[in-house]
Amino acid sequence: MPQLAQRMSRAKPSVIMQIADKAKRLKADGRDIISFSIGVPNFLPGEHVYAAARDALAKDSGQYGSNRGTDALLDAFLQHIEKLGLTGYGRANCSTGIGAKHILYNLGEALLDEGDVIMFPAPYWTTYMDIAEILNATAVELPCPASQNYKLTPAQLDAALSQHKPKVFLFNNPSNPTGMVYTGEEIAALAEVLVKHPETWIITDDIYNRMLFDGLKYTNFVQFRPELRERTVFVDSLSKTYGMPGWRVGFLVGPESVAKAATTLNSNHITGLPEVVTAAAIAALSGPQDVPTEKCAEFQAKRDIVMGAMNAIPGVVCPRPQGAFYVFPDVSCAFGKSHNGKKIENDVDFCSLLLEAKGVACVPGSAFGEPKALRISYTCPTPQLAPGLARIQEFFAELN
Ligand SMILES: Cc1ncc(COP(=O)(O)O)c(C=O)c1O
Repeated sequence: MPQLAQRMSRAKPSVIMQIADKAKRLKADGRDIISFSIGVPNFLPGEHVYAAARDALAKDSGQYGSNRGTDALLDAFLQHIEKLGLTGYGRANCSTGIGAKHILYNLGEALLDEGDVIMFPAPYWTTYMDIAEILNATAVELPCPASQNYKLTPAQLDAALSQHKPKVFLFNNPSNPTGMVYTGEEIAALAEVLVKHPETWIITDDIYNRMLFDGLKYTNFVQFRPELRERTVFVDSLSKTYGMPGWRVGFLVGPESVAKAATTLNSNHITGLPEVVTAAAIAALSGPQDVPTEKCAEFQAKRDIVMGAMNAIPGVVCPRPQGAFYVFPDVSCAFGKSHNGKKIENDVDFCSLLLEAKGVACVPGSAFGEPKALRISYTCPTPQLAPGLARIQEFFAELN
C-alpha cells in the first residue's frame, strides 16, 4: 500500500473549522446554538461589487489570468494601501493570491527552507503554526499573555531575535485572536528593534487594517523605519474588510524579489485569480467604502457589549480589543471548578461544556497558543449577541 507524504503527518485540519462543524451538527439536531466561533464577517459587499462581477461575466474572455494579478487590480490595491500610508510601491512590488491564507503559504514556501526558524507572538492565528508544520520550519512562539495586554514588547522582541536569529518574523496587527491593536508609538519602538536584526524577513499580516476602533490609526514598521521596506512584506485581503471571504482575494506588497517569487509559485499552482473575481475585487477596493465604514462602527459597538459582559464576570481578565471582531478573555479562573458535576481542567473542557450546557460555541485559546483563554468572535447577528453573552455569564455563575 503506498503511503502519503511524510508532511501529511504534520498537516492538521483547522481546529476552528472543527468547532464550527460541531456547532453546525448540534444545530442540525435541533439544538438552539449561538456561534461565536468562526471569524467570518457575516455581511455582504455593496451592490456595486455584484454589478462589476455581472458585467465581467457578460464580457468574459474565458482565458487564463495573469500570475501576478491584472494591472488594473494591482493599481486598485496600490491606491487602496496609499490611503493607509503605505506609499511608493509599484506593481512589481505586488502579487495576489487565493486569499491571505494562500499568500502566507506562498510566503512560507518562498522564504523558508526546512528547519529555518519562523517566529511570531502568541496568541497567534492558528494557520501560522499549521504552515510552519507543513513546511517543516521551526516555529518559535513569543508568549504575550493577558498580563501584557497580549502585546509584544520591544525588549522581548530584541532578546528573541538575538537568541533565535529567525529567517522570518511574522507579525499580525490588529490581531486575530485578541483584537489588540498596536499604537504608532508601539510600532515605532518595535521597528527600532527590527532594524538591528537585518538577517530577518518581516511579514506583517495586517488584513484587519480597516477595522480599527476608538479613532486609532493603522501603522506599519516601514512608516517609521523606511530601511525596513527591503525586507518587509505587508499582507492584505478582501475577506474581512469587505465581507468577501468566499471570493478568495489576497494581496502582498513588499520587495520585488519576494513579489516575484510569490508570482512564480502562482504560475505553478493557481495560475491566477479568475476574471470575475478580479472585477469584483477592483470594485470593492475602488468603489464606495460605505459598507466597511458602517461595519467597523457596528463592530466597535458590539465590542463594547461583549466587554461589558466580560468585565461583569468575577475572575475573568479581558484586555480591551481595539480592532478586528474578536475578544479573547482569560478564563483560567474557571479551571479546577465543575459545571453540573463535570470538571473543567482546561480551555478545551471549558468550551466543550459551554457548548453542551448552554449551546454557545467559542474556540479554545490553545488553538491560538494561549490555553488560558477562549476566543469570542462577535460577528453573529446582533439579536444573538446579548443572549449568547448572558448564557456565558450563567455558565460561570453555575460553576462550583
Ligand atoms: C490574521 C489573519 N490572517 C489571514 C487570514 C486569512 O484570510 P483570507 O480569508 O484572506 O485567506 C485570516 C482569516 O481568518 C486572519 O485572521
